[in-house]
Amino acid sequence: MTDKDKSGYRSDTHMIHGQFRTEKWEYDHHVIPPITASTTFRLDSASRGRQGFVDFGEPKKSAQAMNPVYIYDRLDEPTVGMLEDLFREIEQGESACAFACGMSAISAALMVACHAGSNIVAHRTLYGCTFSLMTNWLPRFGVDVRFVDARDLDQLRGAMDGETRAVYLETPANPTMECLDVAAVKDVIELLNRDRPGKERIVLVADNTFATPWAQRPLELGADLVVESLTKDVGGFGVDMGGMVVAPRRFHKSLRGFRKDFGGVLPPGGAWRLMVYGVSTLSLRVRRQTETAWEVARFLEGHDKVARVSYPGLDSYAGKEVARRQLVDPDGRFCPGFMVYFEVTGGLEEARARCERLVNHIASHSYCITLAVSLGMTKTLVETPGLMTHSVMDAGSQSEAGIHPGGVRLAMGLESPSDIIRDLTEALDGC
Ligand SMILES: Cc1ncc(COP(=O)(O)O)c(C=O)c1O
Repeated sequence: MTDKDKSGYRSDTHMIHGQFRTEKWEYDHHVIPPITASTTFRLDSASRGRQGFVDFGEPKKSAQAMNPVYIYDRLDEPTVGMLEDLFREIEQGESACAFACGMSAISAALMVACHAGSNIVAHRTLYGCTFSLMTNWLPRFGVDVRFVDARDLDQLRGAMDGETRAVYLETPANPTMECLDVAAVKDVIELLNRDRPGKERIVLVADNTFATPWAQRPLELGADLVVESLTKDVGGFGVDMGGMVVAPRRFHKSLRGFRKDFGGVLPPGGAWRLMVYGVSTLSLRVRRQTETAWEVARFLEGHDKVARVSYPGLDSYAGKEVARRQLVDPDGRFCPGFMVYFEVTGGLEEARARCERLVNHIASHSYCITLAVSLGMTKTLVETPGLMTHSVMDAGSQSEAGIHPGGVRLAMGLESPSDIIRDLTEALDGC
């Protein structure tokens, strides 16, 4: 079947059948593709081997795509290639490159966009390890990072200069669930890009981990590159790590070159599970988890030990208009997602202590909520960003990022919503 013939089918169907046949690899008798399990590939002549190195990282022309030269797993291999083809399609980009985890995807995207002397302007609320990459590591290589509140477009514009090469944001942001207006940020960038030669153009990089491609396609909204952790709801079962960068064709070769030389390769078995179990069930899981998150967010909003709930589906949510425009499933339905952030009551110290009591109560008494980092699993997870995922940020940076000492992050699983609410009620009563 050609791509044109497939075009009338819906996205959830594509996620099941999308790339399960490939011109790169013959396995026509299998309904599910086999996993490639050889780190190296037989070459029938030195000239074919040489051709493989010469062609490496070049976008495949269709004749080559039919007969690619595979050399060694770290360069390219068919199972990971199928997952990349699938992501190129579902994120609607020109090129996709898979990595060992979300952090290796994020480092690669930023390192290929920047060089020593350039800078990145980032929204100040970010996953703790991304913040650490930007403050502890990139500066060592001469890349400076400036943090702004990217909802304030004047502040964003003011932070950019002739050496800016990337604007980076998470939307919704981890952990506070702020939605950033991708199109508005892109407009600011485009004004600056107007007079710049191609190589100096600023790219907009968006982390789509919290939404997943089911609930948001950042490239459609104006982002140039999408990065995501596949370890989370794309994988869906908490058994594999993975990361993906979807980018314009001009980054195809450099992303693969970066992966070849820095490593961070996704193993074929992981790619296979992410594709066969993860992506094909993503729409079902996100829909169910979103219904649960909505119900739990409403419950929390009505609880007297909860001071504030940040969930894009609530009427009280500050960025309602942006959320409703951006967080939509491929059929156009509003899909505010499976993550909920809330703050318990009390002054700073009191809230910090209450928050700790709450998660400790969950850790020792709850059946269906688990105290653990990560998100997007069949099991509901809870954590306190201030003490855990964002502890790399000092108190000042946490406060600037809107992370409250009494803040709690909940990642919905697939349990019955009433059971989750039951465990939460007991824990709130006990804190
Ligand atoms: C928003 C976001 N981006 C990236 C990552 C990193 O992903 P990984 O753990 O797969 O490296 C995480 C991890 O929690 C995350 O929450």
